[in-house]
Amino acid sequence: MERSGGPPGERGAGPSGQLSGCGAEKLSENPGLVCIFDLQYNQNMGKLKVRRYDLKSRKCGPQGNNLRFVFISDLHNGVYGPDNRGLMELVRSQEPDAVLIGGDQIVAKPGYPLEPGLMSVKMLAEEFPVYYACGNHEYRLKLYPEVYGDAYDRLREGLAKTKAVYLENQTASFRKNGFRVLIYGFEMKKEYYERFSRRELPVTELTDVFGTPPEDALSVLLAHHPGYADTYERFGADITLSGHYHGGVVGFGTRGLVSPDFRLFPKNCHGCFEKNGTYRIISAGCGEHTVPFRIHNPRELVVLDVT
Ligand SMILES: [Fe+2]
Repeated sequence: MERSGGPPGERGAGPSGQLSGCGAEKLSENPGLVCIFDLQYNQNMGKLKVRRYDLKSRKCGPQGNNLRFVFISDLHNGVYGPDNRGLMELVRSQEPDAVLIGGDQIVAKPGYPLEPGLMSVKMLAEEFPVYYACGNHEYRLKLYPEVYGDAYDRLREGLAKTKAVYLENQTASFRKNGFRVLIYGFEMKKEYYERFSRRELPVTELTDVFGTPPEDALSVLLAHHPGYADTYERFGADITLSGHYHGGVVGFGTRGLVSPDFRLFPKNCHGCFEKNGTYRIISAGCGEHTVPFRIHNPRELVVLDVT
């Protein structure tokens, strides 16, 4: 297990970003690129790192209660090791109280299978409470049956055979270690995913669905798109978890090279950002699809310790 420092900007005030390695190999649908990309692929693509953040919550009781979440985003049908044992062993080693999936578990392209992404959900939910909110890929299956056929129905049927809780603008709640926890799974409308331009996301898109996060519970918002920080902060969940940017493909600290909506050098492609006692965590993701390489931007499994 190797250990190295997180990128600049994650350290200092607020959360600590610690990165440690594991040897889980990904079996990608894109086994590699040729020529110069091959080296980077082999160096950066084959492993899933653990990114750990320590979050301080005022919701924590006087008994020093704590919670640990594993956050998986943008796995995109990734399978780590034979029978996915690499992923399972890595998650198991973290001993999470719950596993949160932030969307894009599958790849929405005609003819692509759903089974690898569903298999991960099923395996995880056999061992841990799993709460799964959709990303734009799951959402696309639902929006465009003329393109994807019955894929969305097959996704839901597959999920119904697991113990996972799938959230489409729905709230799940549970109690653990003295916390009452609310998980908000946000299904953002398609116009807010538009490429090349970005409109404002009114906070009512959240409050109309979820109400206002209460004071007597630890609230976690699963919001796949990280680009609406101001709205998420106004909504006021204790923790907001996003992904979607895949770390911006090439990492420059917490900036990337390009975002899925074709913004160049987007900021805050991954990391943990604290404001007024609430946190936004953006995962660099556990996989990729159309652009099958990463540079200075490892895949990461995010682990959150809330105390
Ligand atoms: Fe996405």
